Amino acid sequence: MSASTSYQPVLTEKSINPHVLNVEYAVRGELSNRANKYAELLASGDNEKVKKENGIRFDSVVTANIGNPQQQPYLAQKPLTFWRQVAALTEYPDLLENKSGTLSDLFPSDARARAEQILHDVGSVGAYSHSKGASSIRKHVAQYIEERDGHPSDPELIYLTAGASAGVQLLLSVVVSGPEVGVMIPIPQYPLYSAALAFNNCHAVRYELDADDDWAVDVAAMGRTVDEERAKGVDVRALVVINPGNPTGSCLTEANIQDILKLAHEKRLVVMADEVYQRNIYHPDQRPFISFKKVLRDFGKSGNAEEMELANQVELVSFHSISKGVSGECGRRGGYFELTNMDPKVEAQVYKMASVNLCPPLQGQIGVDLLVRPPKEGEPSYALWKEETEGIHETLKKRSRKMADQFAKLPGVKCGEAQGALYLFPEITLPPKAIEAAKKEERKPDLYYCLRLLDATGICVVPGSGFGKQPGPNGECFLRTTVLAKETDEFIQRFGDFHKSFLKEFEG
Ligand SMILES: Cc1ncc(COP(=O)(O)O)c(C=O)c1O
Repeated sequence: MSASTSYQPVLTEKSINPHVLNVEYAVRGELSNRANKYAELLASGDNEKVKKENGIRFDSVVTANIGNPQQQPYLAQKPLTFWRQVAALTEYPDLLENKSGTLSDLFPSDARARAEQILHDVGSVGAYSHSKGASSIRKHVAQYIEERDGHPSDPELIYLTAGASAGVQLLLSVVVSGPEVGVMIPIPQYPLYSAALAFNNCHAVRYELDADDDWAVDVAAMGRTVDEERAKGVDVRALVVINPGNPTGSCLTEANIQDILKLAHEKRLVVMADEVYQRNIYHPDQRPFISFKKVLRDFGKSGNAEEMELANQVELVSFHSISKGVSGECGRRGGYFELTNMDPKVEAQVYKMASVNLCPPLQGQIGVDLLVRPPKEGEPSYALWKEETEGIHETLKKRSRKMADQFAKLPGVKCGEAQGALYLFPEITLPPKAIEAAKKEERKPDLYYCLRLLDATGICVVPGSGFGKQPGPNGECFLRTTVLAKETDEFIQRFGDFHKSFLKEFEG
């Protein structure tokens, strides 16, 4: 039979899963597509010619829209040497056979020993592992958590994942039983959450973070929101907290975490604690990172009967990742989650769902091992590891501070110092004429500003509305930038020049 010209494709925008259409992910939206196009054009040949032909006014694109530290060429954080040595040896074990000469100099004895240990457990990185991840690595994660929190951790309740994203999506697919379910998410939030909830066709119940109180959680307001939503018939059953915060850069106080956990107990809410930035802390003396697990288990020692009960009742899922911290190994896709106080029958279902995916990527799992078990003092790789990690940490801290200071000096811009994570979230008040111009293009003012910024400077950031923080009535807009750009001074210069000329254009 000849192919019919009237053949209609099975898959159209109308016929596919409608929930897919509801998914939005601003971090990789219109702006980043345009930025990619600019980058491709600039990479395609004679820069001056390409710039002239395409009206491009900059030499390079600065991808400040996504926390991807090793992205080339503009961020280009150097991978940690020990990580790559172990990754190389596990990837190509023949290298372990070479015990003398140049190759052996490349791989110190502790990197070799680590690779051998890992291979002893997983066999080959080309084989599926246990669906929860290799058992030796889960044991190391449990040891890390025990040392961090001072409370026991069970490797059987730890699941290695393909990044925190995969863990969050797995958990949400178990938590959300139907369209009446509601999951609380912070505003502003990391759009993985709104996207996953849209895909699961349930309610994203918003709670506002307080910009005037270091983006803390207003727990009383959160409680009222739960009651209001439940009165409308929404089955609010889980609560997402991102600490340290993305996009806010805040780090919650212990008292705030205690209040959140008490509310979760009172209202019966599963807590999903996204703690992927736990190593990105800039003022550990004033605002240390404290895990939800620690605060929860500490209640068990309080001597107060109600609190002691809470410690063993609030259901908690804690997420971590190799993508952030100082490792920045985003492309390897590694992370884990830990279940606390979960009904064993539910845990069995989580295990089953993890098994459907067979196993997380092996190099991602190895990354988790390196994250939780770095070289120790006295071991051959320790000095270099310390120098590299401290260097990256100091650089991020310095850049974050410098960028916040410079943003705050610009007219119409408010920007607080970040306590952690990899971002700044400045507030920019746009003049009324700029809002009008955005309206004419049928765009939100913050997106309009960010597109103009990209077109003028090559800097790609994300508008606050992408994180659920909508522009205010008097032109107040937010945007999120990473603090990863190598050339901080040039970034600030390009940004500042654009901002001033933008204001001049619309105020004049
Ligand atoms: C708060 C938060 N959670 C999760 C993720 C995703 O991390 P991963 O690369 O481990 O999937 C990110 C990435 O930027 C993030 O900012």
